[in-house]
Amino acid sequence: MQIPEKLIATITGSRRILVVTGAGMSAESGVPTFRDAQTGMWEKYDPAELATPEAFRKNPTLVWQWYQWRRHKVAEALPNPGHRALADWERASDKPGLHSVADTQQDAWFQLVTQNVDGLHQQAGSRNVIELHGNLLEARCFSDCHEATAIAASGGDEPPPRCPHCDDWMRPNVVWFGEALPQAALEIASHAAAHCDVFLSIGTSSLVYPAAALAETALRHGAAVIEVNTRETPLSEHATWSLRGPAGEALPTLVAALTR
Ligand code: OAD
Repeated sequence: MQIPEKLIATITGSRRILVVTGAGMSAESGVPTFRDAQTGMWEKYDPAELATPEAFRKNPTLVWQWYQWRRHKVAEALPNPGHRALADWERASDKPGLHSVADTQQDAWFQLVTQNVDGLHQQAGSRNVIELHGNLLEARCFSDCHEATAIAASGGDEPPPRCPHCDDWMRPNVVWFGEALPQAALEIASHAAAHCDVFLSIGTSSLVYPAAALAETALRHGAAVIEVNTRETPLSEHATWSLRGPAGEALPTLVAALTR
């Protein structure tokens, strides 16, 4: 893939860099997206009807089993060259990440924000990752009485575990349809979008709000917006550059050009 020289010069001259990723980022790692066809016993279920608090209240065991199936898929997956390129870029940029809204005012930073719940960015070595939709490999109390904890994928058809503190069900630590995003994460991401010089949107349909609003904020504030996607999205016509191709190919090429 050919990367325009002007794009490389723009990124090289930038001090505040925000990268936002979506399900397409993990497609080449084999992680099933929400909109992929479900397989096996899950074929007959609509994910949008499993990923809700109502579905969990009605049938916690069914929803938990579906997440165990998804955890297994993620446990089998490895970071792809796109994930690794982003981790390399963060290391090479030698810029700090953002830990608070105030940090977005600093002179230079590099921040990764993901809508993915698979933890593959961290596994690839990215250090500063803001997870907007939670993490599949964690669980928390359905009554929210306690912090989230890590959880292993298990194969059985057992019900969810009980909260050790209040005995309610434990639920996956992900954002379900109809739920708010983690407030602190969204606030930092929104401020970062308003203050970045360069915004990269990678492997996301730019359809699901509020994450999709981040690119709009960056555009409104005059950032250069670069999209990496195999297909056209609502963002494509507004982006400063659209790189049409798989993230696993585009990102290693881009990062090699930036760090040469
Ligand atoms: P989508 O599944 O909506 O979109 C994936 C995007 O990635 C599409 O635009 C594809 O064209 C693109 N794509 C596919 N393979 C790619 C590749 N190899 N390289 C680059 N791009 C590729 O995923 P998201 O936009 O992440 O929310 O969806 C956002 C949210 O919707 C998810 O986080 C989930 C879902 O509802 C929650 O669970 C809260």
